[in-house]
Amino acid sequence: MRNALTKLRSRAAVAVAFTLLAGASAAASAASAASAASAAASNGARERADDVALIKRGEYLARVGDCVACHTAKNGKPFAGGLALQTPIGTVYSTNITPDPETGIGTYTYTDFDHALRHGTSKAGYTLYPAMPFPSYAHIQPDDVKALYAYFMHGVAAVHQPRTPNGIRWPLSMRWPLALWRIAFAPGVAAGTNAQAADGATMSLERGRYLVEGLGHCGACHTSRGTLLQEQALTDGSSAAFLQGGVVEQWFANNLRDDRVDGLGEWSRDEIVAFLKAGRNAHSAAFGGMREVVLDSTQYMSESDLNSIAAYLQSLAPARQQAALVYSNTAALALHAGQTNVPGARTFLDNCAACHRSDGKGYEGVFPRLALSSTVNAQDPTSLVSLVLHGASMPGTASAQTVFAMPAFGQRLNDQQVADVVTFIRGAWGNQALAVDADTVRRIRRSSP
Ligand code: HEC
Ligand code: HEC
Ligand code: HEC
Repeated sequence: MRNALTKLRSRAAVAVAFTLLAGASAAASAASAASAASAAASNGARERADDVALIKRGEYLARVGDCVACHTAKNGKPFAGGLALQTPIGTVYSTNITPDPETGIGTYTYTDFDHALRHGTSKAGYTLYPAMPFPSYAHIQPDDVKALYAYFMHGVAAVHQPRTPNGIRWPLSMRWPLALWRIAFAPGVAAGTNAQAADGATMSLERGRYLVEGLGHCGACHTSRGTLLQEQALTDGSSAAFLQGGVVEQWFANNLRDDRVDGLGEWSRDEIVAFLKAGRNAHSAAFGGMREVVLDSTQYMSESDLNSIAAYLQSLAPARQQAALVYSNTAALALHAGQTNVPGARTFLDNCAACHRSDGKGYEGVFPRLALSSTVNAQDPTSLVSLVLHGASMPGTASAQTVFAMPAFGQRLNDQQVADVVTFIRGAWGNQALAVDADTVRRIRRSSP
């Protein structure tokens, strides 16, 4: 990224030199060549400063939109595409969005870029697969699209890397049904500018809404999908299904509404900010798809924007009226006394208690707590089963660099044992979530990559 920025600076300098030359030759025909040239020089300097500022803003917005996550292959060059995204109809490969004229978007006009980003149509005219989150990006305001365009044209290093053909078979590979999908499910694009939403320097609900519903595309994972894979709601205004949780690649992206048991109802604004910035807080630590979101995107967001996002999430009415859970020490006392006749208790003591402790409180910032945790009490147990089967490691971020990991137990524990230990933690220490059966574990184990 830093390399790209240096390149861009020298490229911007060349552009400025051209501007100056053009200004100077026009001035030569004027009466006072010298004074006009100096005026052109100061115009040029101002333009350059404006360009650099615009590109920098575009770079920040690209972080917020997390373009790099999908448009970069594993160990690949940034934005050169080629990452395989699994969809129910087959594999879609992200495209090269570096300014390479042949294999990237170097020949895209602002309008072509806008069409892809917000309308979901390619330069060639076909509709994009909604693996590209254009229904959320439709909310991006035109000024921000301009900054993003400036960044992708001038702030990103061009990489020559041809597109990987999609692994979708005919007839599903036909693009025209996607156009119908787009007409049915993608909203109209933002036409003007809402000043509050555009203001990144002041914390506000409007700014938070704009970032979450739009560029941040949080709903792409945190909102469940309908039969045609459309998100059940794209804004809070439309339905309480918005951000009520969804499953993405064997992970359950939690309910982010104000629910007190399985949502963010018991998290303070500062705690939400800490989670997004550091990847961990007193309640939880990021794993699964959220690990990458923290690593590539939210850790770079400004304090003001993080606070706006947190304030907006806190404003989402809970989907269910729930009383807060209350800690109970029954399970801790039983475990201390060596009473392990409840299914899963022995497995917990032998495999989990060393880190998460028999009182379920863990060690803050190191081994997350399991007691009264929104993750453990989630209605959908997919994440819990995946964690036990595959383990996880926290994101190492600028503000919390040490990476703590949880080992995988998929080899050591059979489906019944996994079901039992997950059921155990969902009922211990005051937790109140439904039991998980061995069939659920088997299904998740089978569909794991
Ligand atoms: C969740 C994954 C994902 C994210 C995040 C994402 N994209 Fe995409 N994008 C894709 C995929 C997949 C395609 C190819 C879709 C297809 O082939 O139909 C695509 C296509 C595109 C295209 C069209 C390129 C072409 O060849 O016409 C552009 C431009 C683009 N993305 C820009 C962006 C920008 C800018 C961002 C960040 C603001 C972004 N994308 C974020 C997945 C993503
Ligand atoms: C690529 C999918 C994906 C995207 C995009 C995404 N998340 Fe997540 N998120 C997850 C998953 C999976 C979890 C559950 C794992 C965890 O707690 O880290 C999660 C967890 C969280 C949690 C912790 C909830 C809890 O109760 O423990 C917060 C807060 C959160 N996400 C906020 C956001 C915000 C804000 C955005 C948008 C800027 C966002 N997420 C975008 C996948 C995603
Ligand atoms: C070596 C220490 C260690 C052991 C043993 C361990 N874990 Fe973990 N566990 C962790 C760490 C570290 C995380 C955070 C992982 C991340 O965020 O990527 C975690 C996360 C979790 C979470 C998610 C909590 C949250 O909200 O973020 C659950 C649930 C969990 N572990 C359950 C278990 C169970 C059940 C066992 C036993 C089968 C177990 N763990 C064994 C270290 C451990």
